[in-house]
Amino acid sequence: MAIVEATAGAIAAAAQALRQGELVAFPTETVYGLGADATNGRAVAAIFTAKGRPRFNPLIAHVPDVAAVERLGRLGELGRKLSAAFWPGPLSLVMAKREGCPVSDLATAGLDTIALRVPSHPVAQALLRAVGRPVAAPSANRSGHVSPTTAAHVEADLGAHVAMILDGGPTSVGLESTVVDVTGDEAVILRVGGVSREAIARALGVSTVARAEGEPGKPSSPGMLARHYAPAAKLRINAREVKAGEALLAFGANVPEYSGPMVNLSPSGDLIEAAANLFAALRTLDSSGVAAIAVMPIPNESLGEAINDRLRRGAK
Ligand code: TXA
Ligand code: MG
Repeated sequence: MAIVEATAGAIAAAAQALRQGELVAFPTETVYGLGADATNGRAVAAIFTAKGRPRFNPLIAHVPDVAAVERLGRLGELGRKLSAAFWPGPLSLVMAKREGCPVSDLATAGLDTIALRVPSHPVAQALLRAVGRPVAAPSANRSGHVSPTTAAHVEADLGAHVAMILDGGPTSVGLESTVVDVTGDEAVILRVGGVSREAIARALGVSTVARAEGEPGKPSSPGMLARHYAPAAKLRINAREVKAGEALLAFGANVPEYSGPMVNLSPSGDLIEAAANLFAALRTLDSSGVAAIAVMPIPNESLGEAINDRLRRGAK
């Protein structure tokens, strides 16, 4: 059993394992991350083999504070506004890499930009401070699987590949971080996630922020890979009724009468609660063995935009 309660001693041991080039899964406020020392190319390579990722995508490097960010990349004016508003928290910023940045080229996929994030989870914070190096960490799931929001999810997917899984309980946000490119004159959202598009626009004092939909020539995020979030069961989104043999992913108070497998993301219709429950709910319904999951409509506002993004990918 690789799962260890995230006590001070366990965090110190995890930091040592990371510094020795091993992989450690740890909780963040978004999802569990599969961490490696970002300055160690061999350790970063082990992330890709563990996940079974089909190609080398650039990874987010995690650091404990803005000072550490500034040593690795150039925040710029847009980045400074967003970091002041949302760090520590569920936001990743893509910025120009500083000359002499020690992060391995494999972690940044050879780009001259770097994605950096300051997570708020106390276990992630303590771990990053103890490691004293940037930690590259994609979500701790096998490639193509749903992101893990509990230590048990990580164990099921990657238990054999990690030195340790630090257990910090279920994650609070439940969706990956929002990825924003701040290298240009205007911010561009590369992946919707734990910070809503509206909140990003407010922090920048603009009416709206563009979202790159994987257009050719634009920087693309593997978060945009079509099947990235797929459960095994087929997702039927915007369902108004449940068909025989389906499971039901419900939202809100107005739920169709149903006796089959069912999870309600938020009976009160709270999008934050729904986001936190999304991936665990998909796993639960998937494990009931149904061929399809009927998903009730979710409002496309606030975190609903990111929830619908993940659901649409799962429906392909
Ligand atoms: O919430 C999260 O962000 C989680 C937790 C563990 O922090 N991590 C995560 O990492 O979701 P990952 O590797 O699954 O997603 C990284 C995202 C991808 O969409 C990737 O394309 C984008 O960040 N990214 C990383 N570096 C980039 C770069 N230099 N330019 C453009 N996009 C980049
Ligand atoms: Mg992922």
